[in-house]
Amino acid sequence: MDHFLYRAGVLHAEDVPVPTIAAAVGSPFYVYSTATLQRHFRLFDDALAWGEHLVCFAMKSNSNQAVLRVLAEAGAGMDVVSGGEYARAKAAGVPGEKIVFSGVGKTREEMRAALEGGIRQFNVESEPEMVALNEVAMSLGVRAPIAIRVNPDVDAKTHAKIATGKSENKFGIPIARAKEVYAEAAAMPGLDVVGIDVHIGSQLTELEPFRLAYEKVAELTGVLRAEGHEIRRLDLGGGLGIPYERSNAAPPLPVEYGALVKETLGHLDCEIEIEPGRLISGNAGILVSGVIYVKNGEGRDFLILDAAMNDLIRPAMYEAYHDIVPVQEPAPGVEQHPYDIVGPVCETGDTFAKQRLMPPLAAGDLVAFRSAGAYGAVMSSEYNSRPLIPEVLVNGDQFAVIRSRPTYEEMISRDTIPSWL
Ligand code: LLP
Repeated sequence: MDHFLYRAGVLHAEDVPVPTIAAAVGSPFYVYSTATLQRHFRLFDDALAWGEHLVCFAMKSNSNQAVLRVLAEAGAGMDVVSGGEYARAKAAGVPGEKIVFSGVGKTREEMRAALEGGIRQFNVESEPEMVALNEVAMSLGVRAPIAIRVNPDVDAKTHAKIATGKSENKFGIPIARAKEVYAEAAAMPGLDVVGIDVHIGSQLTELEPFRLAYEKVAELTGVLRAEGHEIRRLDLGGGLGIPYERSNAAPPLPVEYGALVKETLGHLDCEIEIEPGRLISGNAGILVSGVIYVKNGEGRDFLILDAAMNDLIRPAMYEAYHDIVPVQEPAPGVEQHPYDIVGPVCETGDTFAKQRLMPPLAAGDLVAFRSAGAYGAVMSSEYNSRPLIPEVLVNGDQFAVIRSRPTYEEMISRDTIPSWL
């Protein structure tokens, strides 16, 4: 459930009419709903209320400072994957002890910054990384808390570009080698082994792959404890999917996911950590765009929008489906018309949808892409020298710009022309 509903024939973000925001900031822009962010965080928090736990928001899905602040105030920790994300989490007021550092290629500088600024744990993904972290921690005279990410070789049954838990993926260490690698870690004086980490992929629409992975983690916990390791925390990653296409069967709910975690791992008396991104931020955001032209092509009509692949890359990159709805609610019974919905960027790939049925639209109309709060703004670029678009946060009947649209001058001024030119 989200908070983007039609009221009196106009799409609202919570209590704010979307056209009101469009008039203030100009299209295209992203809008996020505070109530939806809070609600989705709480669904996970409640689903794990049966035991000690921390929900760490995967901020790669949406790292705007205001979004992070909303979630931090609700009690969320953060899952970060770069020095930049770590700095953003700290700047939003998240304490180091609630920040988990994931990612396959952490640099020594990033490790040092996190150890100095405070960190809950590093999710270590390889032996060379373990060696580097041990050295950095020792040079600072501290011990780095770590979980080791194991690759359970499970098929997440999702898009190949976002599956991470198969042995051919670059992530984690093979679970079969875990015993050996944990022994190496335990022998390193700069490391403090606190648990096990696993993440098998994103936009999972079934629980079965999670079950297979978590059963393997349960078994591994027993094996490692028998070897003398104190496994007190299990980080289970993120990945629960959202219903992009409302006509499809809805993916499992957080409460069902929480019950599965309890069933597979609840008996181990471990603190549970999860790293959901998309399910918290995805349906908390929409991308609003204006129709520039309706072009009648040969055998098909194009809706040319002012948003493009540089603003929302998911359709071009993953063939992702996003619901696109008119901001003015169509009259009941109005005949739908098939459109190819495209952006102005000079690539054929700049296509959001083909032959999508929409009510008849005209230049100047606004449309909204649903489920755009995750992996939307964060994956945008200035391709075709299109400045990054604004982000707006709504809370009840108030709204605020939480990232403004740069001027052309601001965009250009980041380049410098060397003195010899
Ligand atoms: N933890 C780790 C270690 C991850 O790699 C990811 C996502 C998450 C948590 C959060 O997963 P989520 O709950 O959001 O599914 N750009 C792609 C998605 C990439 C996901 C990468 N890792 C997309 O737009 O679909």
